[in-house]
Amino acid sequence: MSDHYDVVIIGGGPGGYNCAIRCGQLGLKVLCIEKRATKTLGGTCLNVGCIPSKAMLHASELYEEAGTSFSDMGIDAKVKLNLPKMLESKEKAVAGLTAGIEFLFKKNKVDHVYETGKITGKNTVEAGGKTYAAKNIVIATGSEVATLPGVDIDEKQIVSSTGALELKKVPEHMLVIGAGVIGLELGSVWRRLGAKVTVVEYLDHILPGMDGEVQKQATRIFKKQGMAFELGRKVTGVKKSKSGLAVATEASAGGKAKDIDADVVLVCIGRRPYTDKLGLDAVGVETDKRGFINTDHFKTNVDGIWAVGDCTHGPMLAHKAEDEGTAVAELIAGKAGHVNYDAIPGVVYTKPEIASVGKTEEELKEAGIAYKKGKFPFMANSRARCNHETDGFVKILAHAETDEILGAHMVGVGVGDLIAEVVLAMEFKAASEDIARTCHAHPTISEAVRQAAMDVEGWAMQM
Ligand code: FAD
Ligand code: NAI
Repeated sequence: MSDHYDVVIIGGGPGGYNCAIRCGQLGLKVLCIEKRATKTLGGTCLNVGCIPSKAMLHASELYEEAGTSFSDMGIDAKVKLNLPKMLESKEKAVAGLTAGIEFLFKKNKVDHVYETGKITGKNTVEAGGKTYAAKNIVIATGSEVATLPGVDIDEKQIVSSTGALELKKVPEHMLVIGAGVIGLELGSVWRRLGAKVTVVEYLDHILPGMDGEVQKQATRIFKKQGMAFELGRKVTGVKKSKSGLAVATEASAGGKAKDIDADVVLVCIGRRPYTDKLGLDAVGVETDKRGFINTDHFKTNVDGIWAVGDCTHGPMLAHKAEDEGTAVAELIAGKAGHVNYDAIPGVVYTKPEIASVGKTEEELKEAGIAYKKGKFPFMANSRARCNHETDGFVKILAHAETDEILGAHMVGVGVGDLIAEVVLAMEFKAASEDIARTCHAHPTISEAVRQAAMDVEGWAMQM
């Protein structure tokens, strides 16, 4: 392995590994440094994030369905939870996919080392006692769990998402702090497996930043499923006792204190950029007050040093990190790397799923943009009816004059995949009429997207 590289990438998550693979494809000499103790690539996403959480969501969804809705379709099943096996199956998915990245590195001639990387100069990175010379350095070090004063995570009783993916026993009562994406996804997992779940949220609504109608409908659905919400309330501390945990809460606006007993507390109040001991000061790479690395088209203020993914601004999503990593590789290779931040989808993988792209109604109103709205409920979609999966809707927002699609917001089984159609349409600057006049196979849930697009001009034909 040489010590001289065109590109040295610090971090082997979706930002780093995709950057590395694209560099390899473009003929750049590239090294990826990853410090994870497990000596695996894939970062938060593959090891303790997207992949294990989706594996647990899928398995717990099947478990709940087999025990409840199967009988509605004439399938009488006796189901029994085998949690160790479920956890093992999740681990298998993680092991297979992380090993897959090593294979892709080999295939694309990407070097990698399992060490902690530190920037020691504008063109040098130190790792494992060795100094690597780099024409370009890409920082892709990701993020870590944000913590709360008075709540000490031990990953056994008081857990972050990482511990919540490894609980050896179904909790009696799980208290979730934060009704964001992790709280709803992992809260759903343990509720389906038998826990009572209470979600304490600082704001007076769940899923901040999402479209208001989506927030309301999702709250109704999760409540119907048995999840309890304490909205407008904050956790001020958690005390351990022999019988479990005493969670001190008070109204966000102040006053009205209330203790809630639980045996497991999940802390998921967001994540913060991870740039610990990275040597940013040594070369003068600037961050904002919260520690996010400032960039302009992925370039930091130091020539030749780039940053992508969770450690810089924008949504903390694997596909956003992936796109930025790819764009940086292309820019370094002299191509036109670009990310369209107006068309990055977001999906919450609960049942039903929640998916969104572009502007919400609230954002359009605030910006004073005149828009038209089309909406179609899954209750009127034939396939959703066959499948007994009628919760939710598709909403499409288009410019009042040009009809260009400005946003789409969906709640429903499978909408995490349906959103791709609208993302593609937005990439092509399509009008809602383009979707309305596109033939969609029948009977599929994708017809709901077409009907919502038709409804923008008021001619939805199936409701
Ligand atoms: P990371 O994936 O965090 O990777 C950074 C890597 O850098 C880490 O492996 C770290 O060990 C390494 N590193 C840090 N410092 C150093 C150093 N000094 N030297 C060497 N290596 C270093 N996003 C989605 O889009 N969809 C989902 O379904 C989804 N589910 C999630 C579920 C959970 C429970 C969590 C926690 C997150 C989820 N996310 C999801 C978010 C997603 O995981 C992140 O947005 C994504 O991993 C960010 O990629 P990244 O490459 O920027 O950073
Ligand atoms: P989040 O930002 O989605 O939600 C955090 C929630 O906690 C917010 O609703 C916030 O108002 C609330 N909160 C903050 N402080 C609080 C307090 N003291 N008391 C009560 N509530 C409080 O963060 P989350 O769920 O931790 O996820 C972290 C990141 O991981 C997100 O940015 C998300 O993008 C990413 N992720 C993405 C997934 C996906 O794409 N499906 C799945 C899981 C995580």
